[in-house]
Amino acid sequence: MASGAILLCFLAMSMSFHGSVGESLHSKTPRRLLVDTDMDTDDFFALLYLLKQNRSEFDLKEVTINANAWSDAGHAVDHLYDILYMMGRDDIKVGVGGEGGISNDGKIHPDVGGYLPLIDQSMSTVGDCRYRQAIPVRLNIDTNFGLRRSFLPQGNRRYIPLVQPTAQQVMIDTISDGLTTVILIGSHTNFAIFLMTHPELKKNVEHIYVMGGGVRSNNPVGCCQENNTSCKPSGQCGIIGNLFTGYTSNPYAEFNIFVDPFAAYQVIHSGIPITLVPLDATNSIPITEQFLSEFKQHQNTLEAQYCYQTMKFYTASFMWDSFTSGIAISIMRNGDKYNGENEFADMEYMNLTVITSNKPYGVDDGSNPFFNGREVPRFNLTKYGVHSGHVQTGLDDLFCLINGSNTGRCEVAFKVAY
Ligand SMILES: *[C@@H]1O[C@H](CO)[C@@H](O)[C@H](O)[C@H]1NC(C)=O
Ligand SMILES: *[C@@H]1O[C@H](CO)[C@@H](O)[C@H](O)[C@H]1NC(C)=O
Ligand SMILES: *[C@@H]1O[C@H](CO)[C@@H](O)[C@H](O)[C@H]1NC(C)=O
Ligand SMILES: *[C@@H]1O[C@H](CO)[C@@H](O)[C@H](O)[C@H]1NC(C)=O
Ligand SMILES: *[C@@H]1O[C@H](CO)[C@@H](O)[C@H](O)[C@H]1NC(C)=O
Ligand SMILES: *[C@@H]1O[C@H](CO)[C@@H](O)[C@H](O)[C@H]1NC(C)=O
Repeated sequence: MASGAILLCFLAMSMSFHGSVGESLHSKTPRRLLVDTDMDTDDFFALLYLLKQNRSEFDLKEVTINANAWSDAGHAVDHLYDILYMMGRDDIKVGVGGEGGISNDGKIHPDVGGYLPLIDQSMSTVGDCRYRQAIPVRLNIDTNFGLRRSFLPQGNRRYIPLVQPTAQQVMIDTISDGLTTVILIGSHTNFAIFLMTHPELKKNVEHIYVMGGGVRSNNPVGCCQENNTSCKPSGQCGIIGNLFTGYTSNPYAEFNIFVDPFAAYQVIHSGIPITLVPLDATNSIPITEQFLSEFKQHQNTLEAQYCYQTMKFYTASFMWDSFTSGIAISIMRNGDKYNGENEFADMEYMNLTVITSNKPYGVDDGSNPFFNGREVPRFNLTKYGVHSGHVQTGLDDLFCLINGSNTGRCEVAFKVAY
């Protein structure tokens, strides 16, 4: 499967605790996993893959949900509860949301809900949806095209607002309890807030696996001939990112990173070892007719049937997150070799950074709440630094559009830093 896919690893400064501590622990105890997800379709495929592992090897402890992307908090929790019930795992705690905020001086209060990207987070749980507007509609994902209610068995657990454990509580509890591998398959808001508020717990995060971004990717979807007006969608061919609703302003971004670029920056620069599975790799496994008909032959379990029924709704789609979980498990099972050998993808070390704003830096044009009208930038960010430029305000942000072109100039991307 997928030979030739590139797995890019971010080489972190703290490689030292990668090998020795982990190996000796894991010879006796199962690997503790925490997943942060937005409960999009390929997310629950990834979760099912992790849940199918032998628990004495890989123990999925808790799941947190980020509520600023493809699904709404309540629906996402209920969907996940039903899936966990089907898999006999009502013991897995699920965290979402929280009523906390970030005050004007940059103080991060407990239980920030992650409903907003960090750049727009204040003391309220409602605000601008500058990035989320790139997500076309949440209803399909919330209900999984109606399949959740019509297909999944229902357990007893249900989302109850204000009673539900918060994402931050669940992360703090799980990671305090011991060495944990974190798998991020949505935007990075929840985990970035955790890292910013609990740097002392970084030592308990053994490794981070991320589905996100594109480095040298070429979108293979929508490769229409320029003059063919009946071919839709057009203009996607060969683009680095996958914002199919937003190429006219931003052809570089991938959804998970786009939804909260500053959060991704925090994670990538955390110093924790990171394995990144970008579009470069996931583009190599589109869901094709052949893939579907192959999948159809393997319908022995309820979970396989649920995946197959769901997949029938997708044509121009890829196995982003499930590929990531496959690579993560394979690397860990192979003994965490330094070069990350695994059975699915080729690996490469790279020094990466995340572009969160567009040049010129330090121009106060009203687009960037970290800096706009502030004597001291939020989080004490550097005045003319990489976060200080123009930040895309929406899909039709004039700054990002190029006259006469359907691919814009705004970036949110991984950049190779040499
Ligand atoms: C899970 O792994 C343990 C320890 O390696 C083994 O004893 C057990 O048989 C495995 N269970 C299954 C269902 O494969
Ligand atoms: C588009 O242009 C190509 C080459 O110029 C031509 O062969 C093709 O028929 C055109 N397609 C349409 C739909 O006009
Ligand atoms: C134009 O695109 C449509 C839809 O993808 C395709 O069926 C058709 O063959 C294309 N026409 C040409 C001339 O390539
Ligand atoms: C990453 O950066 C470090 C420090 O500058 C350097 O030693 C290392 O060779 C770089 N790694 C790669 C793969 O470029
Ligand atoms: C910003 O810097 C000031 C002065 O050094 C310090 O008192 C404050 O705690 C810092 N704020 C943040 C959010 O780091
Ligand atoms: C783009 O075109 C519009 C209308 O023709 C014009 O007003 C605007 O200045 C142009 N922008 C750039 C960046 O050239």
